[in-house]
Amino acid sequence: MSLKRKDLLSLAPLSADEITLILETADSFKEVTGREIKKVPALRGKTVVNLFFEPSTRTRTSFELAAKRLSADVINFAPSSSSVVKGETLLDTARNIEAMQADIIVLRHSSAGAAETLAQGVKSSVINAGDGWHEHPTQALLDLYTIRQRGMNFKGLRVAIVGDVSHSRVARSNIFALVKLGAEVRLVGPPTMMPWGVEKLGPKVYHDMDKGLRDVNVIMMLRLQLERQGRALFPTIREYSRLYGLTAERVRLADAGVIVMHPGPINRGVEIAPDVADSLSSVILDQVANGVAVRMGVLYLMSGANS
Ligand code: CP
Repeated sequence: MSLKRKDLLSLAPLSADEITLILETADSFKEVTGREIKKVPALRGKTVVNLFFEPSTRTRTSFELAAKRLSADVINFAPSSSSVVKGETLLDTARNIEAMQADIIVLRHSSAGAAETLAQGVKSSVINAGDGWHEHPTQALLDLYTIRQRGMNFKGLRVAIVGDVSHSRVARSNIFALVKLGAEVRLVGPPTMMPWGVEKLGPKVYHDMDKGLRDVNVIMMLRLQLERQGRALFPTIREYSRLYGLTAERVRLADAGVIVMHPGPINRGVEIAPDVADSLSSVILDQVANGVAVRMGVLYLMSGANS
């Protein structure tokens, strides 16, 4: 089976089989990332362009590493030192990059829908590396990979996604994927941070964190995204932290084998206590490590190298 898609913009249209194919493809690349020489020739002759209009540590670096480990040529495009500052549009920028034979464009942008607009305007494959509040498909894929790596089966798995769900592209992609794979998804947070009607997608909403965490197998914390909120959705950070911060005491409400996840960057002492972030239950750095293998899998499948 292959991923017969030009672009990866969202997890909403992917089938459970397609998601599983990406995770299984990542398995073979995980082995490569553990070798002394972490390189295979799968994308030799292909060009991958990282087009990041928003700051990123994990996603940009791991896409670069993933492409290099597949032997692709990689261009890291920095908008601040490009003709974007002279007013060139996103589409014109991408068409110029495409004219230089880019096979895959990895886009991060602050506007929801930017990746879709770009995909409609260029022949190159487009991978959405996070667009506004919309989606962050490869983050959710690496989250799924990390859960599966712990030997957990998605069917019936109880997953609590906690925090500012409304402004979280990570939450949206995870909801689509986890529901599709048969998990029980709980969304935990204040009413002001919950998208209206989100229950129609399958999850159950909890405003009381202690109830939402009871017996869950996975706790997925979200960053309090003050830069995207525009206005205060909570009286004070201290109040938010008291009601929705993950402490060691709250972790004990979950299943004994619970894993704690966070897409990063973390606000220590706000949504997650430092001792929890650094605890044995935390798989936060495993998520980062798995990002490279998962993005290798995505780049490989999108490049058509397997067809
Ligand atoms: N998780 C995530 O998207 O992190 P970055 O913003 O550092 O890429």
